[in-house]
Amino acid sequence: MRGIFIVFEGGDFCGKTTQSKRLYEDLKARGLDVVWTKEPGGTPEGLEIRQKLLHGNIPPEEETDLFCQDRKIHYEKVIKPALERGATVLCDRNEYSTIAYQGGGRGYDVAEIKRKSGEARNGIEPDLIILTDCNPETLKERIEKRGETLTRFEKLGMDFHHRVRKSFLDQAAQDPQKWRVLDASRSIDEIYEDVKKCAEPLLPKTEKK
Ligand code: TYD
Repeated sequence: MRGIFIVFEGGDFCGKTTQSKRLYEDLKARGLDVVWTKEPGGTPEGLEIRQKLLHGNIPPEEETDLFCQDRKIHYEKVIKPALERGATVLCDRNEYSTIAYQGGGRGYDVAEIKRKSGEARNGIEPDLIILTDCNPETLKERIEKRGETLTRFEKLGMDFHHRVRKSFLDQAAQDPQKWRVLDASRSIDEIYEDVKKCAEPLLPKTEKK
């Protein structure tokens, strides 16, 4: 039996990594076979692509191909084998980020992005997509407080991040059965209560031996 596949999506600094890792720790403590992974850079090979994408000087028109290259390796080496052995896979970002950032944000053709990304996924689709949604202005405050080195995407202006948010919300509205939209302006605990409620109905009931 194929495992359950849950993707976490959202703008930069929306807290999805905190939420997905918390769910991972909870499920592991329950004895479930669970894998936490991310894009870009979910494999050793992908780490080099990640570095190029986030801190390199590549032209924007090459982003989609690089994200999809990373995705193909990630599906082949991590996601597919884990799902085949029946593990629950929690993935921080996936195709929906390419649609939102390269499509919505950068303005590249969404049909083309879907085609390229679909090839990379090779027929595998998540069972659930959890969107931690937040106004980019709130996210900007978080960025400034943290004082970290920003990636090429985090450095882009507010207009870009508003377009990314709109794309995520549009994608969620088009497929409400698969997507859940959570208000990420709340506390970590409040958001996590909702994450658990969304994931729980899908999770395996039996514990691994
Ligand atoms: P990362 O440091 O992993 O950020 P986060 O913790 O917010 O996920 O950086 C990933 C960045 O790459 C993020 O700004 C979103 C962007 N991105 C795309 O533009 N397209 C994509 O397909 C993916 C997966 C990410």
